[in-house]
Amino acid sequence: MDKRTTRQIKLESIGTLVPSITHEINTPLTYMKNNLELLELDLLDAFRSNESIQESIENLKDGINRISNIVEATNEIVKKGSNDKRMCNIYKTLIHSIRLIHNHTKFQMPIFINEELFVPDFKANRYIYKANVIKDELEQVWIILLNNAYDEFLKSNKNFEDRALSINLSQENDKTVITFKDNANYGIEESILDNIFEPFVSTKDYSGIGLGLNIAKKIIKKHKGKIKAYNENNQAVFEIILKTN
Ligand SMILES: Nc1ncnc2c1ncn2[C@@H]1O[C@H](COP(=O)(O)OP(=O)(O)OP(=O)(O)O)[C@@H](O)[C@H]1O
Ligand SMILES: [Mg+2]
Repeated sequence: MDKRTTRQIKLESIGTLVPSITHEINTPLTYMKNNLELLELDLLDAFRSNESIQESIENLKDGINRISNIVEATNEIVKKGSNDKRMCNIYKTLIHSIRLIHNHTKFQMPIFINEELFVPDFKANRYIYKANVIKDELEQVWIILLNNAYDEFLKSNKNFEDRALSINLSQENDKTVITFKDNANYGIEESILDNIFEPFVSTKDYSGIGLGLNIAKKIIKKHKGKIKAYNENNQAVFEIILKTN
């Protein structure tokens, strides 16, 4: 059996197994989440403003969320999903996604949209860039790219004032082009540039499983758009092209 066939078989069997495994993981995870919330209320009632309890609880929550995200990402890769495309304002989908992560990332990663520093009261209809998209799926792409950039900023030696995740939008004829460019480190490792969108390609030892960009590529492909990754002046660039019609 040649290498490619073995690989294909492996991927297919993962596709069949994933939904049942993730279901098995999700059930105790939900149970853990609910109990932790109850425990938090009880503990804070008993030991008011105890910082070390609060910190331990936050760490537990972080861990559970991390597992949830991995489970969700793994599920997403094999999900069939709907094809309900609508004309949307891409800028708005971007603002929605940034709002979701901003609290968590704001001390590490300043985000500039069309060269303006993002602040939470940015109006979601401040600019209009149209495209025909499945809104929820596109927002997932933004979250994947935002999380990847954030991971890079966590490793960055740069001062906060010198940091930038620059997101630019532009409209060209029948296309909307969105680029994410971050100056956290030295860009994407050359050794993975050619297969960065393949599943399980990751340079993150323990924290990453290498599914984010694979999911992003699948979503963009479903939209008949394009996604590219390259380095420019030692900065990682992810460019997405979406059709406006
Ligand atoms: N902004 C970026 N700058 C530099 N390298 C990046 C950037 N975004 C992604 N990469 C590289 O691409 C790899 C693949 O990214 P991908 O999102 O697919 O997986 P991951 O982040 O490693 O794990 P996962 O997303 O599954 O948690 C990363 O491990 C990293 O090496
Ligand atoms: Mg990732």
